[in-house]
Amino acid sequence: MGHKIGITIVGLMFWAGMTSAAIGADADSGKALYEKSCAGCHGADGKGNEKMAKLIGDKGLNIVGTETKKKSDEQLLKLIAEGSGKMPASKLTKEEQKQALGYARSLAK
Ligand code: HEC
Repeated sequence: MGHKIGITIVGLMFWAGMTSAAIGADADSGKALYEKSCAGCHGADGKGNEKMAKLIGDKGLNIVGTETKKKSDEQLLKLIAEGSGKMPASKLTKEEQKQALGYARSLAK
């Protein structure tokens, strides 16, 4: 019994490693994920989508400012995963959330 479970866990870890490596190899996936899941609120340039700002207010929609830059990846990933204020918890996988954040960070440079 215990042996079988052990093999399954190793198999799952291997699988998870493979998929994240495959996603990581695609440099454009962060951009695609961001545009699909985040730009509707934060805008393609990360400065906030105007229409959304009118709907929910512009507080927090600019994510390329110094306020955001100062925060750690850990802090921001937690916020993306759990949601904050008017931002809903993301339905993306953890790996996709990282990529979308990576792209958002790249907009701030
Ligand atoms: C429904 C609109 C909406 C969507 C979709 C959305 N956000 Fe947000 N986001 C917000 C709002 C509103 C805030 C401000 C939260 C607050 O006031 O606490 C925010 C805050 C943030 C912050 C924190 C900025 C800071 O300095 O604290 C980051 C980073 C962020 N969003 C990234 C993302 C990413 C990446 C995605 C896509 C996976 C995403 N957001 C999707 C509305 C949204």
